[in-house]
Amino acid sequence: MFSERIERLSGSLIREILAAAQRPEVISFAGGLPAADCLPKLDFSGVPPHLAQYGTSEGEPEFRAAIVQELARIGLDIDASQVLVLSGSQQALDLAAKLFIDPKTPVITEGPTYLAALQVFKLFGADITTVQQEQGQLPPAKLAEAIAASQAKLAYLIPSFQNPSGACYSEETRRGLAEVIDAANMPVIEDDPYRALSYDGEAPRPLVTHLKKAPWIYCGSFSKTLAPGLRIGYMVASPELMPYLLKLKQAADLHTNRLGQWFNTQWLNSGDYVGHLKELQQSYKVGRDAMQKALETHFADLADWLVPQGGLFFWLTLKQPRDTRPLLKVALEENNVAFMPGEAFYAQPEEGIGHLRLNFSHASPERIEEGIKRLAGVIRAAQ
Ligand SMILES: Cc1ncc(COP(=O)(O)O)c(C=O)c1O
Repeated sequence: MFSERIERLSGSLIREILAAAQRPEVISFAGGLPAADCLPKLDFSGVPPHLAQYGTSEGEPEFRAAIVQELARIGLDIDASQVLVLSGSQQALDLAAKLFIDPKTPVITEGPTYLAALQVFKLFGADITTVQQEQGQLPPAKLAEAIAASQAKLAYLIPSFQNPSGACYSEETRRGLAEVIDAANMPVIEDDPYRALSYDGEAPRPLVTHLKKAPWIYCGSFSKTLAPGLRIGYMVASPELMPYLLKLKQAADLHTNRLGQWFNTQWLNSGDYVGHLKELQQSYKVGRDAMQKALETHFADLADWLVPQGGLFFWLTLKQPRDTRPLLKVALEENNVAFMPGEAFYAQPEEGIGHLRLNFSHASPERIEEGIKRLAGVIRAAQ
């Protein structure tokens, strides 16, 4: 009855956990949700009536122009014709997978990587090779080896405040990776939804700005900085890819919802966006610092971690590696605390045994301290 690819359709563990973590008594470090009090007030009172009509597949011209300006600020100089507005940046992964991936197409991701990217790449049949991060960087030589060994046809990277590891690659690493990608002349997807959430200085400019010839897609999102419920993201791509991506967008949903685009354009053009980002940074930095303090108190003998300089997550490596998936049930049901088992962020979960991803943007500092204490108890009891 179904297409052959449905055999490869996996559920998203995080969606199931988020459902269980809805109970108010649960302290949840599981999701990647913006804090509820950091969301903008949705005011659609000034919406022009013509937005009730169908719009263009590329996106609203004013919004695309505003995105071009935003990107120029971070060193990515592009033309508005290279911007495709999407229903969340997740759609970029779907369209890119349709463009590049057939069953058995060799694809490279970081280890660990974004779970929902694995979900869509696997659905299209990707044969995924993982390049492990080392001390918060992705060694370019390791990428070169993996490309040569797997004959990769696509790489997917999250160089800035990665989900889930929080890593942010240095300028030097980005240059090195770009050189390797250029040498292979292989398309690369750079996913960059966390860049604006920086707490100790800005991330270096996007990796794709260092490319000289390889085809590229850069994905951006307003989910982490404005309102994820509006589902507004975008992709920017090298010009030769645009005609294909545009048709794929048309085939998927004709165009992105116009109200969301209008709302985001108002923010970008109002001048309030910069102030809003500063508030987010200040607020999430408090969460980051609270979690670091709680981890130092309760996890020093249990795990190692790097302090994330941006994004929404701590990534813990247990000193005594063990599969953290069975611990989630104990944590949730007996201790009312939720976390994301790290194994879920690997194409082959057994490559990533013994990690936890902890979100710090959702719970208050007091709840962070209490939740980390409870979680340490769960890990300790399992050892
Ligand atoms: C790395 C990464 N890419 C893409 C997305 C999807 O974001 P959006 O809400 O724009 O679809 C997320 C969301 O958590 C993410 O962490």
